[in-house]
Amino acid sequence: MSFLEIKNITKRFDRQTVLDAVNLNIERGELVCVLGPSGCGKTTLLRIVAGLETADSGSVFMNGKDCTYMSAAKRNFGIVFQSYALFPNMTVLGNILFGLGRKKNLSEEDARLRAPEVLRLVDLYEHKDKYPRQLSGGQQQRTALARAIALSPDCLLLDEPLSALDAKVRSKLRGEIRKIQHALGVTTIMVTHDQEEALTMADRIVVMNNAVVEQIGTPREIYNHPATPFAANFIGTMNFYNHYGETRAIRPEKIEVVGRTESYDFTMRVKSLEFKGALTGIYGLLPDMGEILVDVSSEQAEALGLRENATIFLRMPPECLIKYSATEV
Ligand SMILES: Nc1ncnc2c1ncn2[C@@H]1O[C@H](COP(=O)(O)OP(=O)(O)OP(=O)(O)O)[C@@H](O)[C@H]1O
Ligand SMILES: [Mg+2]
Repeated sequence: MSFLEIKNITKRFDRQTVLDAVNLNIERGELVCVLGPSGCGKTTLLRIVAGLETADSGSVFMNGKDCTYMSAAKRNFGIVFQSYALFPNMTVLGNILFGLGRKKNLSEEDARLRAPEVLRLVDLYEHKDKYPRQLSGGQQQRTALARAIALSPDCLLLDEPLSALDAKVRSKLRGEIRKIQHALGVTTIMVTHDQEEALTMADRIVVMNNAVVEQIGTPREIYNHPATPFAANFIGTMNFYNHYGETRAIRPEKIEVVGRTESYDFTMRVKSLEFKGALTGIYGLLPDMGEILVDVSSEQAEALGLRENATIFLRMPPECLIKYSATEV
């Protein structure tokens, strides 16, 4: 029995099926990222788990108990949405205390002890007397997180908590959220459409597309063995080509650029080069296969003296090829 069991959840809005028989089991203490394009049903799924929305069919079990029809208030879930939703007229400390005030069986005195504790955990104690407008985006987000974890939730539900932040702050908060989540051991579902966020933070990733779950697996499993072309394309970059009626896929960094005297599978004329920092992307056309991207380390690109229009020799290691039947694409 898993800690959280989402069984066959189906949800329609008007005539549109937004979730189509979604199944997902989450273990205690796990951080699961739900990843998928805009409109695929991620927020709706989270809202159903939270009890803020009801499913048309299916059920949600927590700790073996059916909570499909339990009100949101009774579920003891901590929720953080994309918009921070802090009370603008309350200080950081005030926001936390207000959240704690909603918890039953917690005396005012206990709340006063608990609030500074969580503020230290998210590294905001020194900002406790500021109002939301005096905080940076990252600090507001951490306040919202502190408010959610202050209640010692059984489960933490995060809906794109980092999407409003710039890249630097995001990647810093990624690590911090992961650290706090580990320290508390709180079971967490985090919705994102940022693949890097999912790859770096998740114990397991749920790839969703068009109301269905395409694949569930660890970041490595999904990156190395994407079950469907959609998963392959959505996470990381993937080259697809046809080979005798079969669709093959290979990651750009798995293709090797070798010398002309070594064994190679294809020759390719370099169409353009893209310097990306550590890696350099080589774009070219393979006969009958369309455009291909090969990523090599920028040192190798330098050493090879790569130029546009040069001919290079490529090896596709067979163990790196992923094969899909034509009907899947
Ligand atoms: N209350 C509602 N009434 C009608 N349609 C809705 C409602 N809520 C969501 N939808 C529709 O359901 C679909 C899924 O919405 P949802 O918010 O779950 O997507 P999402 O995966 O979270 O997308 P995003 O990444 O843009 O946040 C969308 O097509 C949306 O328009
Ligand atoms: Mg959403």
